[in-house]
Amino acid sequence: METILITGASRGVGLELTRQYAAGGWRVFACCRDPDTAEALHDLARQSNGAVSLHALDVDQAASVAALKVELGAQPLDVLINNAGIMGQRNARRGNVDYDAWQACLDTNVLGPTRVVEAFADNVAAGAQKKLITISSRMGSIGQTLAGDSIVYRSSKAAVNMVMKIIANDLADQGVIVVVFHPGWVRTDMGGPGADISVEESAGGIRQVIAGLSTADNGGFRNYDGGIIEW
Ligand SMILES: NC(=O)c1ccc[n+]([C@@H]2O[C@H](COP(=O)([O-])OP(=O)(O)OC[C@H]3O[C@@H](n4cnc5c(N)ncnc54)[C@H](OP(=O)(O)O)[C@@H]3O)[C@@H](O)[C@H]2O)c1
Repeated sequence: METILITGASRGVGLELTRQYAAGGWRVFACCRDPDTAEALHDLARQSNGAVSLHALDVDQAASVAALKVELGAQPLDVLINNAGIMGQRNARRGNVDYDAWQACLDTNVLGPTRVVEAFADNVAAGAQKKLITISSRMGSIGQTLAGDSIVYRSSKAAVNMVMKIIANDLADQGVIVVVFHPGWVRTDMGGPGADISVEESAGGIRQVIAGLSTADNGGFRNYDGGIIEW
């Protein structure tokens, strides 16, 4: 049975990825900050005949990442998806940057996925597919940034893109495929009701692209529909 670990699985894109991978017959380690309040994820786990298990994981907390590592041990993972993320201060611009909010955003969106990779890279390297995925954003593309807004969120996603590019180079000799994704502008709590696409379309596209990844794709920045996004 193929195995996957997904962070931020309580709602939004992470919850839908969990639903789709479980429906596709995968064993899903679904991670969320607070399993006690993750009702939709509990419902999914109950209906999954043991395919979905819930695990506490706050990517801001090194101790939480370490505890999950102890819990999972050497469990091989075919795919790991760093999906957890926050917008932080919306529309931060020159003149109104909230530095505490910026630090919190960098902690969740940059240091968080890095903590997870440091803890679980060996588990991914031990898996058959060896795919290490991070849900970033095209708002982190320096080449596509033409606007003067969202300093906090854009900088966090640009930074995590660089981290994953470095990790891609570092793990290439182990055959690990490291790819960052733009999930589309998705109708979630973060994307809002006016966004372009549903969680079903986003997660379905991401799954399809992940399924087709090979070592030639290592170190790439991909759209949910398979397109290549410039750095
Ligand atoms: N929606 C979009 O249009 C869009 C566009 C580009 C990129 N993205 C990216 O796609 C990913 C998923 O976004 P989404 O739209 O599904 O967002 P969402 O609906 O706001 O869900 C965010 C998820 O991340 C979790 N999370 C936040 N901080 C965490 C932490 N410290 N530790 C562990 N989990 C944490 C949340 O858990 P709680 O339930 O505990 O808060 C929730 O499960 C994010 O990385 C986001 O930046 C989204």
